[in-house]
Amino acid sequence: MQQPVLLRTGVAPTGARRRRSRALFRTSVAAGVIVAATLLAGCAESVERVAVDTPAETPLSIPPLLEPRVEDGLAHYDLRIGTSRHDYQTATLTDTYSYNGMSVLGPTLRLKTGDSVVISVTNELDQTTTTHWHGADVPAEDDGGPHSPIEPGTTWVADFDVIQPAATLWYHPHPHGSTAEHVFRGAAGMIIIDDDNPAAATLPATYGFDDIPVIIQDREFTGDGQLDFAIDPGGRGNLDGTLTVNGTINPFVEVPTGLVRLRLLNASQARTYELSVGGATMTKIASDGGYLAGPVVLDRLMLAPGDRTEIIVDVGVSPATLVDDTFGRVLELRPNGSASRAGPLPDELATIDRISESEIAVDRSFHMEKIGDGWGINGVQMDMSRIDETVQLGDTERWTITADTGMHVFHIHQTRFLILAINGEPPPPEEAGWEDSVFVDPGRDVVIAARFNTYADTNTPYMYHCHMLDHEDLGMMGQFLVVG
Ligand code: C2O
Ligand code: CU
Ligand code: CU
Repeated sequence: MQQPVLLRTGVAPTGARRRRSRALFRTSVAAGVIVAATLLAGCAESVERVAVDTPAETPLSIPPLLEPRVEDGLAHYDLRIGTSRHDYQTATLTDTYSYNGMSVLGPTLRLKTGDSVVISVTNELDQTTTTHWHGADVPAEDDGGPHSPIEPGTTWVADFDVIQPAATLWYHPHPHGSTAEHVFRGAAGMIIIDDDNPAAATLPATYGFDDIPVIIQDREFTGDGQLDFAIDPGGRGNLDGTLTVNGTINPFVEVPTGLVRLRLLNASQARTYELSVGGATMTKIASDGGYLAGPVVLDRLMLAPGDRTEIIVDVGVSPATLVDDTFGRVLELRPNGSASRAGPLPDELATIDRISESEIAVDRSFHMEKIGDGWGINGVQMDMSRIDETVQLGDTERWTITADTGMHVFHIHQTRFLILAINGEPPPPEEAGWEDSVFVDPGRDVVIAARFNTYADTNTPYMYHCHMLDHEDLGMMGQFLVVG
C-alpha cells in the first residue's frame, strides 16, 4: 500500500505561493501524485494531480440533509453561518467558514416543488455576509444578494414558495465585494428540488446511496496549513492547486452497481473543470435549471464556476472514475456489492417549453470586458446604487452576451434561460435545457432568452454577473429590476 496517497507537496515555504512556481513537471513517485504545471493564460500554475491507478483512501464526506422544523404548516430551515475547522490533511486543522457547525460547507436542503419554505440565516461571523439561493426563482427580497446583508449576530429570514421544477441548486454568501472570499473559505451548500415528474421516477434518488452530491472546489494552502485566499484580476481569476470534493481530498464513494446519479456542482472561485468518466458511460440528465428533454450520453463535459450538471453513471462491478483533465481523478465510484434501485433510464425526461422568436419583446446586449484593474459589463462596474436594466414583468427577453478578453460565466439571478445560439448556431442537446449560468469567452458569443413572468419588485434588484468570483468582486456585475 502506498502511503500517503497524497504527498502534501502543496505546502510551500511560508510566503511562497505555488502558483508562482515555474517548475514545469515534478513527479512525486512515492505518492503517485504528479505535480504538474500547466501553462494557462500565460501563467504557470501547479496542481496536485491524482493518478487514476492510485488507491483513494478517504471516504467522500456527504453533507447531511437539513431536517426542517414544521411550524404553522410551513417547513422552516435554520442555517447558521460561522467559522469552523476542517481537516484538509495539512499540518494542522484549517480555519474555515461553514454552515451549521459543519467543518466545511453546509447541509443539503431538499425541497419539493409546491412547498412553502421559511429559511433563516443567522450570521455568526464577525463580518457582514448574505446567503443567496443560486438558481432559485424567488422574490428579489428573498434572493439573498448583496442587498440583503446579514449583520454579525443577526438573523435574516427568507420565505418563498418553490415554484420551479426539480433541479440542483446551491446556496452561498453574496456580500458585495467579498463573495469570493466567503465562498473560498468554505461557505456553500447544495439545494435539491424534487418534483412529481413521472418521467424521473426511475432515476436514482436516494441521497448518499445512489444520488451523490459532488461539490468540486480547488483550494490553496499556506505553509502553515491555512487557506490561502487570493484574488487574481487576470483572465481566468485565481486558480488553486488542490482539488476537494465535498471538502474531501482524493475521495472514493461506495455506490451500488447500476445507475448512480452524481449532482455535480462547481463551487470553485474561478476554475472550470473538464470532466469525463472512466470505466462506465456518463449520461447527462440535467443542467442548472432542471432536466434536459432527454438523457444525453457524453464523453466529456465542461463545468464552469456556478454550474450544476446531473449525470448518471452506469456503474459495473469494478470502480468507475470521475476524472478532470487537470487534476486527474476527482472521485472514485467504488461498487459495494449492492444493486441500484434505479433504472431503466427513461428516453424522455421533461418537456422544454421552448421560446420562439415571436415571443421576444425586448433585446439587450451585455459585453463582458476588462476595465482598468478590474472587470465590467457594458462599460461600467458594479454600483449598488445604480439600476442597470429594468425588465417588465411578463416580458420575454433575448440577451446577447459577448466578451472581449478572459473567460467568463454569465449568471442571472431569479430566472432560468434557454440558450438560443452559441456563435450563431443552435446549442447541442446537452446545452439545450434550462440554465442560469453560461460560459462566454471571446471565441464564444451566446444568445439566451428568458421569461420574466414570476415576481416583480420596484425596489429590490436582482443581479447578473460573472460567476468567476474574482471577476464578480472586481466589478463584473450589474443589477436589474423586474417591475409589474
Ligand atoms: Cu451563485 Cu449571484 O450567484
Ligand atoms: Cu445566483
Ligand atoms: Cu468573468
